[in-house]
Amino acid sequence: MRTAVLISGRGSNLAALIDACRQPDARAEIALVISNRSDAAGLEHARAAGIPAETVDHRRFAGREEFDRCLSDRLEAQGIALVCLAGFMRVLTGWFAERWRDRLLNIHPSLLPAFPGLDAHRRALAAGVRFSGCTVHFVRAEIDAGPIIVQGVVPVRQEDTPETLAARVLQAEHRCYPVALDLVASGRVRVVDERVLIDDAATPATIVINPESG
Ligand code: GRF
Repeated sequence: MRTAVLISGRGSNLAALIDACRQPDARAEIALVISNRSDAAGLEHARAAGIPAETVDHRRFAGREEFDRCLSDRLEAQGIALVCLAGFMRVLTGWFAERWRDRLLNIHPSLLPAFPGLDAHRRALAAGVRFSGCTVHFVRAEIDAGPIIVQGVVPVRQEDTPETLAARVLQAEHRCYPVALDLVASGRVRVVDERVLIDDAATPATIVINPESG
């Protein structure tokens, strides 16, 4: 499945997706990378892998909808079937979310629906949660909302700062996003009543408690 990744910055999730899709049994192919910033460090990951990479600068457009229509045209012109947002720092319009409905994935660094939006790690620490993590979901018009495909959980440590928690969650992100993309590309994922159903999903049996006793 020809897949595009949209980025704005570092691109570590892009790198994880590129690596995973290089495996011989991968069902998704990263065929295009688009950044809204020409200086996004992540563009280098695409170039190093020989993947076409483009910049579509949002500042060239009169409004969000014009930008989104241009993005969508680029994606369609390249025969893209799936789109992954990976640190893409532009809010997409409802029009775009609808156009790419159930073909548009996002990753967010919290266990949604907790802590949508910016600053998720600082807010998770302020709330005193014992676990945080990441969520890969289909995109809807509302920010960081939509049917959940995969979540990864990490323990929160008492001494965590937003930076140390972010680093731990990022490791989970790099594992979860490839799993979610592969599931969607395999055709095993359906959205029913705004929930994701996965054919033959394997669910872990473990209960994890934080702190551990003793
Ligand atoms: C990740 O934490 C992702 O969850 C969030 O933005 C960050 C992007 O990091 N949406 P990277 O550019 O993939 O390294």
